[in-house]
Amino acid sequence: MINLGIIGTNWITDQFVQAAHQTGSYQLAAVYSRRLETAQKFGENYGDVEYATDLVTFFAIQHVDTVYIASPNSLHFEQAKQAILAGKNIIVEKPAFSTPQEMDEIIELANQQRVFFFEAARNIHEQAFKTIADFLPLKDQTIGADFSFMKYSSRYDQVLDGEEPNIFSPHFSGGALVDLGVYPIYAALAWFGMPNESLYFAKKIQTDVDGIGTGILRYEEFDVTIRTGKISDSYQPAEIFLSNGTLVLDAIHSIDEAVFHDRDHQRKIKLSVQRVENPMVEEAAAFAEVILNPTDRTLGTNYEEWVELARNVNQVLYDMRKSAGIVFDADEK
Ligand SMILES: NC(=O)c1ccc[n+]([C@@H]2O[C@H](COP(=O)([O-])OP(=O)(O)OC[C@H]3O[C@@H](n4cnc5c(N)ncnc54)[C@H](OP(=O)(O)O)[C@@H]3O)[C@@H](O)[C@H]2O)c1
Repeated sequence: MINLGIIGTNWITDQFVQAAHQTGSYQLAAVYSRRLETAQKFGENYGDVEYATDLVTFFAIQHVDTVYIASPNSLHFEQAKQAILAGKNIIVEKPAFSTPQEMDEIIELANQQRVFFFEAARNIHEQAFKTIADFLPLKDQTIGADFSFMKYSSRYDQVLDGEEPNIFSPHFSGGALVDLGVYPIYAALAWFGMPNESLYFAKKIQTDVDGIGTGILRYEEFDVTIRTGKISDSYQPAEIFLSNGTLVLDAIHSIDEAVFHDRDHQRKIKLSVQRVENPMVEEAAAFAEVILNPTDRTLGTNYEEWVELARNVNQVLYDMRKSAGIVFDADEK
């Protein structure tokens, strides 16, 4: 059983803890919050839970072996570092870190301390995602792809009222690309590999981060278009253009339907994919398998691939952000 500690008490942590419990492999053991009442309210339905309002006390709780970090993006790095130095595995919400330097430092530290680092990029752990990976032909038959993830954020209303919520703040490494664009980028890199060039054209909002934008990932033989935004909604499906037809997915961040239409319009192949109710169960189960079987070679290889993918996604996010002139406080560290 994995004894889980959590940082961040918003709805996403609740969803993760429920998913983790659903796998049968985790038990919530400790909650950190800046306020004791918030921590206690979060943990009250999970049995025997310890609470902490400072991180030194929290990381000193011996029986916690794994910490899930879902704080504002710019805080992940320091919290992850402290957790690793305390000997804990870390599951860090996407986008795990703000810069390639931060990412490299954490990967190295986790290796040194012999603990696991997972980025909670839930879409790549979904069964649907793997079904599509198996269906896709060799890369030389790919002509292009078009992926969108855009969802209006109610927190943009606060921006319009003159406020700067964390998710739209450059101090907290926010903005549409890193928040939602990370899903299509994960999909592109997992299915097609690392692009040769990554560009982003964005409309900045009052807080100086991107509200909406279009990215292009340039591969040797084709391009992938990424559209993302938090100040509008998109209802566009995702499409992968192949030399013998087009694969249409209902969405890129959570796939519920995948249909291949062949070139001469004679045939449609419906892939067997299904979304699970809590979208975090599959990633929680995948992480647990690695944590609970640390010497398993196949799982170890999977883990190394996830880490390299996280590193590459982080680099692409950084390159795209730079190309659009989006600067975070974390860039200056
Ligand atoms: N995988 C997904 O589907 C998904 C969905 C949503 C969010 N996320 C990710 O989850 C993370 C958190 O996102 P969020 O929207 O929940 O962020 P948030 O509301 O800004 O903050 C999350 C938690 O961090 C703590 N916090 C807030 N402001 C803080 C500050 N100034 N200093 C220190 N702690 C602070 C709060 O917990 P306390 O008050 O208890 O200290 C809060 O509950 C992000 O990395 C985001 O990308 C992932």
